[in-house]
Amino acid sequence: MAVYPIRTFGDPVLRLPCVEVTEFDATLRKLADDMLETMYAAPGVGLAANQIGVQKRLFVYDIGDSPGVIVNPVLSAHLGEWEYTEGCLSVPDLHWEIVRFKEVHVDGLDVDGNPISLDGDDLMARMLQHEVDHLDGRLLLSHLDRRQHKEAMRALRRRAMGLSDDEREPVG
Ligand code: NI
Repeated sequence: MAVYPIRTFGDPVLRLPCVEVTEFDATLRKLADDMLETMYAAPGVGLAANQIGVQKRLFVYDIGDSPGVIVNPVLSAHLGEWEYTEGCLSVPDLHWEIVRFKEVHVDGLDVDGNPISLDGDDLMARMLQHEVDHLDGRLLLSHLDRRQHKEAMRALRRRAMGLSDDEREPVG
């Protein structure tokens, strides 16, 4: 197993939709194991393949119950709304209140290609929506309102310049 560097905001691989997995072999199982190890090291509760630069449609997760892998996930049957403070390993240290569906259903495959389906609510539903967004090339920034988005861009620009969030702009 191996821990990979996690790609962050600005890396184009995070903006590209991932490609459906068609080969269920040892390479895929190793990728899933490496993704889990990378996620636990971060630490995070979910990790999509493109977050380590692999443009394949799968993600791993563990919201505290047990580790899981879902390949080629499709979300459906969403219900309700839930606002929650959400962050992302690819947009480190920044968090926003984001409204998402409270309950979702997901169909997909396991690493051996067998069909699986899951119902999630609250944190599980949040994670499922967040990770499927990643696989579609979407970051949580796309769920921010106009004001949150403006603040996010400012914080990310400051970070890119090597400034911390509470420093003032250098003069001159
Ligand atoms: Ni994320």
